[in-house]
Amino acid sequence: MTASGKFITLEGVDGAGKSTHLDFVADWLRRQGHEVIITREPGGTPLGETLRELLLHQEMDADTELLLMFAARQEHLARLILPALARGAWVVSDRFTDASYAYQCGGRGIAAERVAALEAWVQRGFQPGLTLLFDVPPAVAEARRSAARTADRFEREADSFFSRVRTAYLERAQADPGRIRVLDARHSIAELQAEIGQLLQELA
Ligand code: TYD
Repeated sequence: MTASGKFITLEGVDGAGKSTHLDFVADWLRRQGHEVIITREPGGTPLGETLRELLLHQEMDADTELLLMFAARQEHLARLILPALARGAWVVSDRFTDASYAYQCGGRGIAAERVAALEAWVQRGFQPGLTLLFDVPPAVAEARRSAARTADRFEREADSFFSRVRTAYLERAQADPGRIRVLDARHSIAELQAEIGQLLQELA
């Protein structure tokens, strides 16, 4: 798949603070003159947002959860991400497939081969150009989660679930250090913005 814009994803356990940095990334890229689209997963399209509601609030089997994540992702790629990249826009997404490896494999215990098979089907080799992984120790993320508004189905999970999610994210980063850049999310917002600016500079 050829694309002229670039695709950037933000990842991390719930409570890592990644959402705070989405607008910063988009504004930084806009200052370079790029058209930028901000989106999120699950979600990003009308059907994807409907699936998000189900995924966040409806009890379901773990494999159903994984399949719905990828159904939403197929829709997202076909209707929003790939057309935007093809016309030269940059796309910044709050989560993408690394979250499926972290949450559905690390958190829920689904075999990575299942995610890899769906990834190959839906993405056909397409990958983000850069992934920012906001990493924090479990206790810090826990404190941030409990300060936040009403918890969804994922946010109600036990601390051990989030420890496994974090480990799975860090293993992904170790396996693909060129794409997935780990940021210490305990740093101040200003420090993180400086670090993010550096990484974007390398890409832009
Ligand atoms: P999140 O970014 O945490 O939304 P918010 O900041 O509004 O709470 O995303 C919602 C949840 O979806 C999050 O807990 C992680 C989960 N998720 C998966 O389990 N697998 C996936 O593939 C994706 C994209 C998200």
